[in-house]
Amino acid sequence: MSCSFDTNCCSGLRDEGAPPCDNTTRFLEGCLPLPLPDDVLNEIVPKAKDFALLHGAGMRYRDRYDADSLEMAPFFLLPSAFPRREFDRVVRLQPLINILMHRVAHNHEFLESSLRNTIKVDDFTRRLWEIYTTVRKEGVAQALSLGMVRSDVMLTKCQAGCCQLCETPPYVTVHQVEVNTIASGFGHMGPVSGRIHRYVLGELRKAELLHHLPENAALSGLCDGLISAWEYYGNPKAVILFVIEDITYNICDQRFHEYYIRKERPEIHVVRKNLTQISQRGILTDDKRLIIDGDEIAAVYFRAGYEPGQYHSEAEWEARLNIERSKAIKSPSIHYHLAGTKKVQQELAINGVLKKFLSDSEAAQVGQLFTGLYTLDRSPEGDKAVEMALAHPEKFVLKPQREGGGNNVYGEDIKKILEKIKDSVEREAYILMDRIRPPLQNNYLVKSHNPVSLTEVVSELGIFGVVIGNNEEILDNKYAGHMLRTKLSSVNEGGVAAGLGALDSVYLFD
Ligand SMILES: Nc1ncnc2c1ncn2[C@@H]1O[C@H](COP(=O)(O)OP(=O)(O)OP(=O)(O)O)[C@@H](O)[C@H]1O
Ligand SMILES: [Mg+2]
Repeated sequence: MSCSFDTNCCSGLRDEGAPPCDNTTRFLEGCLPLPLPDDVLNEIVPKAKDFALLHGAGMRYRDRYDADSLEMAPFFLLPSAFPRREFDRVVRLQPLINILMHRVAHNHEFLESSLRNTIKVDDFTRRLWEIYTTVRKEGVAQALSLGMVRSDVMLTKCQAGCCQLCETPPYVTVHQVEVNTIASGFGHMGPVSGRIHRYVLGELRKAELLHHLPENAALSGLCDGLISAWEYYGNPKAVILFVIEDITYNICDQRFHEYYIRKERPEIHVVRKNLTQISQRGILTDDKRLIIDGDEIAAVYFRAGYEPGQYHSEAEWEARLNIERSKAIKSPSIHYHLAGTKKVQQELAINGVLKKFLSDSEAAQVGQLFTGLYTLDRSPEGDKAVEMALAHPEKFVLKPQREGGGNNVYGEDIKKILEKIKDSVEREAYILMDRIRPPLQNNYLVKSHNPVSLTEVVSELGIFGVVIGNNEEILDNKYAGHMLRTKLSSVNEGGVAAGLGALDSVYLFD
């Protein structure tokens, strides 16, 4: 499915002669008439805060870390409206996205041609690429990979009748922001947000609305994937390794994964180490078993390792290489990590490319999720994209090959950067993407030590998928729950851990 250069609409699906999207944003009605009366608000907010704190919706204090205390994670008081049709569609499509990412990760030629220019200018991606090629050359010790992916999507407005998807109300469709293949967080926070909202609606005596809140088994879905990987490894004495940051602020999310595994499978141990500790205490045996502090590692779950700052020195890179060399089952394997880069995402959106990996009808369905993605390589297409971004920076997002939020460039800053790098190879480290303008809605942000007030917000839905397989076959493949992050409509990015967004859950409407 191709993406047109001049609209923000479901490009490629547009009917001949249909009016272009006007780019203005719709407002979605929420689950309750707002504002809530003051007395109702004053009663429900303290109850909701206690529920959140007592059910693990917490984070370490970012500005004054203290291992002995937790701060309540920010959340929105009410669930956010999301069209059921679009929710069902992305849930249904997730197994196809899993297959796509699995096949992309295993297609050497495609990874190489997609990343060839990027690795010349982006050091971090080059280092990942070197690990990939080193292990390829030495011989891959573990053919199985565990994908724990999260496809992030946003609603986008389409004018009625502008494309096949929009022929029927509610005239909104979803566009994919990206697919994460490493450290796809919120497997606990996603479901817990839904639980907060079930409680809040119950306390507000609106139990009749509860059927609008879908089930969310993200934690079990993701952890069962880790347990399967542990089983495939086939050594009952081996353990699961969580590769963690030096300081984990999003601790509840990670710990609840451990607690799930502890409860479901008491015989499986989880150990947590950062890359520095792995470099100091890890051993790779001649037969490629990874041993850390005497424990053989069956499966590795990376909750870190996705940004340059997490590799302090060569020692951490060596640790990543040795993990990759080992026969532990990794989530992600290095080729999965590379498949999740922004550059690969952009290459996948080129007309016809999805058909290399999926059947025609599957490719058409997945392609409907894509918005405009443009190469910034030094080519005629790249030049055209630079011109487009300089002329209308407000319509685009400029993205480097980074994860973890806060790295993308918006608006006038796009101009500043592109003016500087447009004639150099440096521009090949970035891709350009149409800016998605999700519909607005109102909600109450509940944040510790802050007054609760009604604000205009936008949401981003993350759909989890779990896939296990090797080059020849896929052994497990499933939708594994979801999460919703919501941010003030005035901010560009809304990472919850970064303090810019907040937990939320979906309120499905027909
Ligand atoms: N095309 C877009 N249109 C509108 N907003 C976008 C777009 N791309 C990214 N964003 C915003 O920026 C945030 C981060 O973008 P993205 O997911 O591409 O980067 P990331 O660093 O990989 O983040 P994450 O940690 O969520 O994986 C998104 O959650 C979204 O709020
Ligand atoms: Mg990401």
